[in-house]
Amino acid sequence: MRAELIQAVSLLRAGELVAFPTETVYGLGADARNPAAVARIFAAKGRPADHPVIVHLPDATHLSGWARVVPQGAVKLARLFWPGPLTLVLRRSESVPDIVTGGQDTVGLRVPGHPLALELLQAFGSGIAAPSANRFGRISPTTAEHVRRELGRNVRLVLDGGPCPVGIESTILDLSGAVPRLLRPGAVTAAQLSSALGEPVTTEAGADASAPRVPGSLAAHYAPATPLHLVEPRELAAVVAAWLDRGGVVAVLARRPALDAHPRLHWQLAPADPGAYAHELYASLRAFDEGPATVILVEALPRELRWNAVADRLARAACGSGETDET
Ligand code: TXA
Ligand code: MG
Repeated sequence: MRAELIQAVSLLRAGELVAFPTETVYGLGADARNPAAVARIFAAKGRPADHPVIVHLPDATHLSGWARVVPQGAVKLARLFWPGPLTLVLRRSESVPDIVTGGQDTVGLRVPGHPLALELLQAFGSGIAAPSANRFGRISPTTAEHVRRELGRNVRLVLDGGPCPVGIESTILDLSGAVPRLLRPGAVTAAQLSSALGEPVTTEAGADASAPRVPGSLAAHYAPATPLHLVEPRELAAVVAAWLDRGGVVAVLARRPALDAHPRLHWQLAPADPGAYAHELYASLRAFDEGPATVILVEALPRELRWNAVADRLARAACGSGETDET
């Protein structure tokens, strides 16, 4: 085994944090059976303690160690989509530490589809609790360098697996209730899930919608520090011109080429395909945020199902942008 993996496993066993790549975004990992280690994740991220974290597993045979009920639907979805960008929320087994579940009766589980993550999980041999490796409320990291810039010395080791292929967080499906419920859209779509399950998947919030079951579902999340506005395609030219007139440095993310060049206009051409768009999204927002832009204008996406997951992240980025405190 590579020296770096041996070091990662011994850090995890000692209750330390290790950041690692997944196919979606980089995770900030700790031994999910060790409450003190998981507490370090919350401290490093500045994240409220009542927010549950996902447990990453080496393979689906580990499900029964974490969930007290493994419904047929979960078995089916695991077979079809794992390793891959899908998190299943199931009833927790008694042994799962409360700090992992945020005190809830459920636990989020997934087998990530990234070779380095799988090597780490297999070498560790148990569950690794890992939220995205960013400060709470900020943009998820999709490269090892992003993680180092976000968390600095708070993390002992960052395993570098290059840029994350998917680029946005996993789909989260709640299978703990009477009906399957989509808690967060992602690369695995609601249509794929309902066709695999043979029943509809609801996207409606449950009765307890006010509880922070999914902090990613808080309106302000995944946000850059620079104000970000979504602009309808037909209004883009006029809105860009207005911001330039006011003397701003304007960053634009659009699926069509730049309008007339301007020294204060930074135009980023976004891919026309939702998968490629997702892959680049967070790196583009992060680059804008670190540059001189005073405003980020993003061309609104088509209201089509296949754009759902990225449209969801952009809406939250627009809502939470421009705040200076780490909420
Ligand atoms: O793609 C991903 O899911 C990445 C990579 C690292 O795996 N992880 C990630 O973790 O996005 P995080 O903590 O940033 O977001 C996980 C989401 C949170 O919104 C959390 O509330 C939700 O999963 N979650 C975890 N356990 C849950 C549970 N038992 N019930 C409801 N939501 C849960
Ligand atoms: Mg996150």
